[in-house]
Amino acid sequence: MQALFHHPPSPIQIFHHPILEAQNLTCFIKRDDLLQLETQAGDQAFCGNKWRKLKYNLSAAREQGYGTLLTFGGAFSNHIAATASAGKLFGFNTIGIIRGEKVEPLNPTLEFATSCEMKLHFWSREAYRRKDDPQVLAQLQEQFPQAYIIPEGGTNALALRGCAEIAEELLAQEQLDYLCLSCGTGGTLAGVIQGLAGRAFALGFSALKGDFHKVEVQQLLSLNNPNNWAVATEYHFGGYAKTPPELLDFLVEMKKYNLPLEPIYTGKMMWGVLDKAKQGYFPSGSRIGVLHTGGMQGWR
Ligand SMILES: Cc1ncc(COP(=O)(O)O)c(C=O)c1O
Repeated sequence: MQALFHHPPSPIQIFHHPILEAQNLTCFIKRDDLLQLETQAGDQAFCGNKWRKLKYNLSAAREQGYGTLLTFGGAFSNHIAATASAGKLFGFNTIGIIRGEKVEPLNPTLEFATSCEMKLHFWSREAYRRKDDPQVLAQLQEQFPQAYIIPEGGTNALALRGCAEIAEELLAQEQLDYLCLSCGTGGTLAGVIQGLAGRAFALGFSALKGDFHKVEVQQLLSLNNPNNWAVATEYHFGGYAKTPPELLDFLVEMKKYNLPLEPIYTGKMMWGVLDKAKQGYFPSGSRIGVLHTGGMQGWR
């Protein structure tokens, strides 16, 4: 587990694009997708924000003597794949509570989780909605006393601590005015806001429809809300996991810039960053960090 705590910073890629150059913007992509262990051998599940969110949770589980990781997610969840992979890498059993009925054959994400020996439990959508209810969690803990329970998306206080390190690491590499990133639960954004500590503006791009991040991120930050952040809600492309052809064409175009993205999170964010740049949102001369949170396993 030491490798999680002692590693070189994830690399920075300078991204040249005509839209950015026309606006006199410099863009630094923080390639957290490349944050991997040597022992992973091509498994793209445990990297990016999953690495950062799970890091302190894995060490807490080990220190507290838990032998199992239990978590929640949809059938295509990057977090489920990452937890399954982390369990295999670090010697934990894993249990995944999956939203909705079991569909066979399993999709590639769940197939991968099973290949890492994660035990899957399928909960109806109605039961799944109650997954954060303290009574439901107490029952689960009773049923699986060896399980260290991690919420959906891996978002908890320890995850925020790991994500704060992204911002600290990046600011030690480059001076920035903005840091852009994709948002699902908003946990990564909340951690990054903490790590920036007012030194740059955090701009989230929601992968989901709706305006709930303002409240959810504020709750995660509790009293420590510095107000130098915002979430762009207009780049969800119809909602979570909706991938219209123009988005897929955009991802092909981005490959020409040596930037591999995926359609669920990072692709929508990068479209949003370029669109905001075109609209003149970032003042001329701004230095913009963009976080590649990984998720490439989603292509499966
Ligand atoms: C690749 C990727 N990027 C971004 C996010 C969003 O992270 P968060 O849920 O912390 O907002 C996720 C969430 O699962 C993800 O898999």
